Parts: sequence; C-alpha cells; structure tokens
Amino acid sequence: MKKEAETIQQMFARIAWRYDFLNHFLSFSFDRYWRKKAVREVRLSEGGLALDVCCGTGDLAIALHKTMRTELVSPSRVQVVGVDFCYEMLHLAREKVTKDRLPIQFLQGDALQLPFPDSTFDTAMVAFGIRNVVDRKTSLIEMLRVIKPGGRLIVLEFYKPSLPLFSAFYLIYFRYVLPFLGRILSRDTRAYSYLPASVLEFYTPEEFRNLMIQAGCQDVQFKRLTGGIVAVHVGVKPGR
Ligand SMILES: C[S@@+](CC[C@H](N)C(=O)[O-])C[C@H]1O[C@@H](n2cnc3c(N)ncnc32)[C@H](O)[C@@H]1O
Repeated sequence: MKKEAETIQQMFARIAWRYDFLNHFLSFSFDRYWRKKAVREVRLSEGGLALDVCCGTGDLAIALHKTMRTELVSPSRVQVVGVDFCYEMLHLAREKVTKDRLPIQFLQGDALQLPFPDSTFDTAMVAFGIRNVVDRKTSLIEMLRVIKPGGRLIVLEFYKPSLPLFSAFYLIYFRYVLPFLGRILSRDTRAYSYLPASVLEFYTPEEFRNLMIQAGCQDVQFKRLTGGIVAVHVGVKPGR
C-alpha cells in the first residue's frame, strides 16, 4: 500500500471511536439525510446484492438495508456487503449490525483492488469515501468491474457550496469552526483539518461527473444537496 494510503488508514483508525458522533454533531445530523438521499438512488429488487465501498462504520450500508426494509416484500433477500481498509472503522460497523441483528457483512479490503469477482453486485455505492482514496479513477473502475452490466454506481461526496452568500458562511464554519471542534472532540490534531482541506482541493461536481465518464460510466447524472455542499452522482455500467 502507498505511504499516502497508509497515512489515511491510520488517521481513520485514530478517530474511529469518535467518528459517528462527530459526523452527526458537526453536520447537525444532515449526514443521515444525505445518506438517505443516496440510497434512494439504488434500485434493488428482491434478491439484489449491493456493495458499500469505503463503508467506514457502516452507516450507508445500514441506511440502505433500512430503506429496503420499508420498500420490499422480502427485504431479507437483499444482501448488503461493506468493504473498508480500516480495521477499527469496520469493528464499529460490525458491532452495530450485531447489536441490531442486521444481515450485513463487513470485509476488510482496498477500494483500489476490491476482493470480488467481476459483475458480482447489482449496485455499488460510496459515501464520503472516494475523496480519501489515493487514486479515484482506479477506484471507480474497480467499482464498475464488480457490478453487473446495467448496475448503478452511486457516489455521495462533499463539494464546495454553489450559492455565493451561503458559501461565505459555510466556508468560515468549514475552515475554522469545524477543525477547531473536531480537534478538541476527537483529540486528533490533523483529521478535522484534513477534512476541509481535502474537500476544498477536490473536484467540482461537473469535474467528478467527467471522471466517472472517463472511468467508463454511462448516463452519469448528479444532484446537489443542501446548497451544494454535498452531491449525489449516479452512473450506470454499460453493456445491457
Ligand atoms: C469519511 S469515511 C466514510 C465512511 C462511511 N462511508 C460514511 O458514510 O460515513 C472514509 C472511509 O474511507 C476508507 N478508505 C479510504 N481509502 C480507502 C481504500 N483505498 N480502501 C478502502 N477504504 C478506504 C477509510 O478507512 C474510511 O473509513
């Protein structure tokens, strides 16, 4: 694994114990709403198989499972698998699903070399994870490889906001307040400065759509949420 990836992995290992709390606290619980919006883009039928890449503590996989529970006649036939390279994050994900008896499996693996055969899943999704992967295009290609032709790839990610006035207030919060609170509450000096820095140097939603197309996705569309601080991209694997 590259040094940069190791640094990312170690950073998530250090903050895993505070990750969920800080996600909800620093986003005013909007993170739950954003994941719900992302899983609404998944079109799974009975017997479907979904992959959550960079699953962290499992909240996207859990949100998908809960949505399926309300929408399908036999949701137990839908299977969700989460994969992440950080053991500490996965440990928390496993604790949650064990406690709530949810049939979700979590595996340790690299988003750049997914441990699954070609065309295994009906859909692959990633929430707030692709930005942290050192080679985003390769990771998109990997996700496309493991989904079936016609399957959907869903990416939820932070972006710089699009509304000018909102943007000014948001950037003050994001650049100064969030790192300060994050540092105190996680007791980690770097992780919550890394978050705004990584978002501010990330793609625009239009650029990310182009990256998905370059990786081989078809029919790529995106929706901005909450003044553009988050967007959900959806693409389709060609060939059906
Ligand atoms: C910000 S967290 C997102 C977690 C979760 N998806 C969520 O919605 O909260 C990013 C996750 O990406 C994982 N990650 C980063 N690079 C990865 C890679 N190359 N392979 C697997 N996981 C990776 C980290 O370990 C971390 O758990």
